Amino acid sequence: MKFFLDTANVDQIKRINDLGLCDGVTTNPSIIKKEGRDFKEVVIEIASIVDGPISAEVTSYDYDSMVKEALDIAKWADNIVVKIPMTEDGLKAINTLSKKGIKTNCTLIFSVSQGLMAAKAGATYISPFVGRIDDMGEDGGELIYNLKTVLDNYGLESEIIAASIRTNKHLEEAALAGSHIATIPGSLFEKLWTHPLTTQGIENFKKDWEAFINK
Ligand code: G3P
Repeated sequence: MKFFLDTANVDQIKRINDLGLCDGVTTNPSIIKKEGRDFKEVVIEIASIVDGPISAEVTSYDYDSMVKEALDIAKWADNIVVKIPMTEDGLKAINTLSKKGIKTNCTLIFSVSQGLMAAKAGATYISPFVGRIDDMGEDGGELIYNLKTVLDNYGLESEIIAASIRTNKHLEEAALAGSHIATIPGSLFEKLWTHPLTTQGIENFKKDWEAFINK
């Protein structure tokens, strides 16, 4: 499974990239707002750090404006993927962009049908939102499993990016369901490699070793 970082925080990206654990980055308007930096400048900086796909989202919602914006964003760096929302205009834009060889990530997917349509329209990536599905009292992990099954059934090449990952359980469910990728917020990522029993185990080893060498 590939790990993407769902953040535009350059310090976090550098730190996790240095561990060899960052296969790509996803951003959206809310994530860019949080960093308070110029959209184009921060995306170009991230694209220069990470050797993998960097998703940057359009901020317009009608077909003509989305395609115009996407054509511009796609020129910012070689590894840019343009994120397009799951709407009728979005599907049309994805279809046009895929014919031009521009990689797209169809975002805000909440059902198998939406994912299937995005894949058929030519999306390189499709992003179901696991946490937000759970918020509705449904099962985000099950959506990933079903979506993966359907893509496999028909040999569709789009890759699933499990998004809106908020907990260790979300990540594990996405991995068990066979998601190609999970995009993980930096703050959660740093919690995932720790475990209270690991910390306690190290403390015990240290204590025993000190006692042994000082006896
Ligand atoms: O990748 C989508 C993500 O940024 C949304 O997360 O937690 O706001 O549902 P959340």
